[in-house]
Amino acid sequence: EPEYLKKAAATWHGQWWKQGGGGTVWDAMAYDPALDLLYIGVGNGSPWNQLYRSEGKGDNLYLSSIVAIHAKTGEYAWHYQTTPGESWDFTATQHIILADVTIDGKPRKVLMQAPKNGFFYVLDRTDGKLISARNFVPVNWASGIDMRTGRPIENPAARYYKTGKPFIGSPGATGAHSWQPMAFDPKTGLVFIPANLAAFPYIPDPAWKPAKLGFNVGVDMGKAAMPADAAARKAALAATTGALIAWDPVAQKERWRVSFKGPWNGGVLATAGGLVFQGNAAGEFAAYAAADGKKLWSFPAQTGIVAPPMSYELNGQQYVAVLAGWGGVWALAPGVLIDKSGPVRNISRLLVFKVGGKAQLPAPPALEKAPLDPPASTAAPDVIAAGGEHFGRFCGVCHGDAAVGGALVPDLRRSGVLNDATTWQQIVHDGLLKDNGMVSFAGVMSAPEIETIRQYVIKRANEDKALERASAPKTR
Ligand code: HEC
Repeated sequence: EPEYLKKAAATWHGQWWKQGGGGTVWDAMAYDPALDLLYIGVGNGSPWNQLYRSEGKGDNLYLSSIVAIHAKTGEYAWHYQTTPGESWDFTATQHIILADVTIDGKPRKVLMQAPKNGFFYVLDRTDGKLISARNFVPVNWASGIDMRTGRPIENPAARYYKTGKPFIGSPGATGAHSWQPMAFDPKTGLVFIPANLAAFPYIPDPAWKPAKLGFNVGVDMGKAAMPADAAARKAALAATTGALIAWDPVAQKERWRVSFKGPWNGGVLATAGGLVFQGNAAGEFAAYAAADGKKLWSFPAQTGIVAPPMSYELNGQQYVAVLAGWGGVWALAPGVLIDKSGPVRNISRLLVFKVGGKAQLPAPPALEKAPLDPPASTAAPDVIAAGGEHFGRFCGVCHGDAAVGGALVPDLRRSGVLNDATTWQQIVHDGLLKDNGMVSFAGVMSAPEIETIRQYVIKRANEDKALERASAPKTR
């Protein structure tokens, strides 16, 4: 383990990362050999809530920034900060594309990024000067970017820790665009962005304290849980979608879009043949025309796809390959929203295509879900409420918001262990399944606290069973 990782592991973010959280600290880099500049996209502040890292003050220089350094010497060249005083998990680690484009009749060497915060930035990559910044999805944390200062024009309500009030942010913590790479087609001049339209409730938590492990973000994840209310769920589901957006970085506007049922669709590949390839959360791998987005071809992949495709030539034959498989934060954390694109599961495969290819996939295994069959909920409301807070803080990021799980880790509402307090303690307190990625939480919670979580999940399972009954077709 290199020294820098040991150091990182000693921080809150490092602990979260060790727990299997995303490694979003440093993702994107690009290099311009002519300028000898290395461009680094920098991650968000952690904990998200700025109050708990720098007394709610300051820009927190270089967080959520693009930093250019001279590759030969490592010296600083310039930086542009997309989100000063970042407090919403708005990383700037997203894919950085370098291109030469004509703007106002002049050739410009640009750097383009569509970070989580929802704005599409075009910078002059020689000196970091802002050329343009326009939102590519609806954004409510800022009304725009001040072109004079390069700073966002913030909505004061967005600083939830200052107002003391919840802020439903669009985009939310999963970002308008996450790590799935976008693509640039020099012929049409378009950038193809795998965009998410998904909000997140940032709820201040005045009593928050860091813990030795777990999701240390400094907001109240327990209170942020989706209520067991059919209308609230319906509204959240309707507002949560995804799209492949063809963005014209010179005109700063959308040229076309392919709309998807849900967010968290795959990375994008644009080819010189005028095709745009992308896998999606609904389990399809498709090719679109770069010029207008018309769907030209698709393949049922049996699994959600998040990785970007690639293309290569071997012995005069062109191939397109994609590492199919479903994962990442959207497959774990967002509860009832996980299955917005349909029930998605993970079947990890490398799929390789060529013109005239004839291979077929084996039939997909059945999608099985254990029934909701919880014991009766008998615990006192304050016990259940405490369990909900602990669940939000320590469990929801993997087992799903409000204990509604996805297909990757057990849905605790449907778990056989729910009915068995002893085994529950062996797993959650003693670390029985630690070698499978389910560590012991004894370092942050007592056995009675861990039991409150079981009581909360029992309550949640009963609520959802009742909702299921209410929405089932009536029989006479
Ligand atoms: C970093 C991700 C992660 C977090 C956070 C997490 N779990 Fe898990 N949990 C898992 C994984 C992965 C498994 C499946 C392990 C296996 O396959 O044996 C699991 C399994 C379980 C099981 C066994 C379920 C069954 O039916 O087999 C229980 C119970 C459980 N977790 C409870 C909790 C509770 C309670 C919390 C919060 C205190 C929590 N987990 C937090 C990843 C996580």
